Parts: sequence; structure tokens; C-alpha cells
Amino acid sequence: MISFPHSFEGQTTVEGAPLVADRPDGVVLDAEPLLARGSYVLDVGSGRGTNGTYLAFQGHKVHSLELNSDYLENGRRIIGALGGLATANTMVQGDMRDLNFREEFDAVIATRTLQLIAKPEAYQVIHKMREATKPGGLNIINAFVAEPDQQAEMPNFALFEHSELKTLYKAAGWGVISFKSPNERVKLDYTGAVPGCGSKAQLIARKPVATETVQQALIAQAKLSALLPNSNEARKRELIALAQNYYRSDPEHYDDLMEEAAAL
Ligand SMILES: C[S@@+](CC[C@H](N)C(=O)[O-])C[C@H]1O[C@@H](n2cnc3c(N)ncnc32)[C@H](O)[C@@H]1O
Repeated sequence: MISFPHSFEGQTTVEGAPLVADRPDGVVLDAEPLLARGSYVLDVGSGRGTNGTYLAFQGHKVHSLELNSDYLENGRRIIGALGGLATANTMVQGDMRDLNFREEFDAVIATRTLQLIAKPEAYQVIHKMREATKPGGLNIINAFVAEPDQQAEMPNFALFEHSELKTLYKAAGWGVISFKSPNERVKLDYTGAVPGCGSKAQLIARKPVATETVQQALIAQAKLSALLPNSNEARKRELIALAQNYYRSDPEHYDDLMEEAAAL
């Protein structure tokens, strides 16, 4: 496995000022071994693309989506400086609220970014992240956690209750591979305009392999099986009726037909 270059950490500042975390998010480190080599990954609200550049060094291809042009420029500079494998992380300007992909990615990541939009918007983004994921693919999330009263105080920032993300994914039929969330009253840093060093929930979930069309086919098949006993009954009656014609003329054939009917 190609290791993440140490030099990356030396280049995480612009004019001496660090912008975001120097290392890929812990939930991304946890999820990476679950990705097949060469996976195609979307990272929404990527900042300087730290997650994506790490994943590029692990042999994946990444589409990093970021709103802020300064972060994009900084991220592209880092990728340029690292060269080679890092170029597998393409950084694109965009708003996560406008996501519009259909089952294109093996994994979709959102780490420490959903708090920057309102809760109903975050729910929509999660829905779009799921749509962007291929069947069998992963969603990898690190989101801020809060009690309902804390959320009420900060209505413009999407904060999640302790088990909310897990419940949300399970309700959509996804398999929750890993979920970590603090179980005591959470700590939020109210000093800034945005929740800062608060508690977070980390989720890794897998999309079910059966797509809607396959699921529909399975339901249709089940309905068909439910009808089968009736069809057997009809066929049975048909065979018995047919057998009557041979009772005298061809007793052997009569027996065969009656046996066939009895087997149903
Ligand atoms: C705290 S940083 C986290 C960056 C990165 N995900 C990480 O874990 O290092 C949040 C990022 O989300 C970006 N962001 C905020 N609103 C966004 C939006 N609507 N669409 C895309 N990115 C957004 C910010 O510009 C910022 O770079």
C-alpha cells in the first residue's frame, strides 16, 4: 500500500496560516480499507481536499467538491506540489446543495461540512449523496452532534441527535457498517458563528446492492410464487380431466396422468 506522504503535512498552510485539519478525517481512514482499489469517490465540502489527496495516494480516484475558491486554490496548489498520484484528486468548485449524480460513485464522503447548511438542506444533501452512490457503495460521514435544545439555538447549522444518522440510513435500507457517537451531553463551541470543536458522529454505511428495479423484480417474483399453488391446482384439475379420456382406452396413460396430477 502506498503511504500518505509526510511532506503533505508540511504543506497544509497558506502563508503560515492553517486552514483546515492537516490529516484526513478519522472516519475516512476507517473506511478506506473497505474500498476496492481504484474506487471512484466524491468528497463534498472537501476544504483543501485533504481526504481526497489521501485517497488518491491509496490508489483511488476522487472528485472533490468545494464552495470556497480560496480552499480550492490552496488544495490545487498542494496537489500540484505533491504531483504524481495526488493528481487523481480533482478539485471542482460547487455547492453540495446542487449535487446531481446518479449512482456514479463507489463512495461519497461528507466530513465536518453538513453543519454549514441548515438541517432540512442537510437532509436533502444526504438524500442526494445516497442517489450519487452505486449499489454496494459507501457513504462516509462525520457530522456535528447536539441535543435538540442546542440545535434550536443554532437553527442555521445542521446538528444531529446522537443516533439520528444511523436511524436515517437504516430507515433507507442501508447497512450501517460502523457508527460512533458520544453518549453524554455533547459539547459545542459557541464562541464562533459556527459550531467548532463539538462532538461528532461518524457513520460508515453501505447502499443495498438491489436497486429499485431489482427490488421490484423480487416483489413481482414473490407475488408470482404466491399464485403458484393456484396454478398447480388448475393444472391438477386439467390433468385429471384429461386422464378420464384414457380410463378405458389407455389405462397406462391414464395412470401416468393421474400420477403427474398427484405429484402437484
Ligand atoms: C470544516 S471544513 C471541512 C473540510 C473537509 N471536509 C475536512 O474534513 O477536512 C468545511 C468545508 O465545507 C465547505 N462548504 C461550506 N458550505 C458548502 C457548500 N454549500 N457546498 C460545498 N462546500 C461547502 C467550506 O468551504 C469548508 O471548506
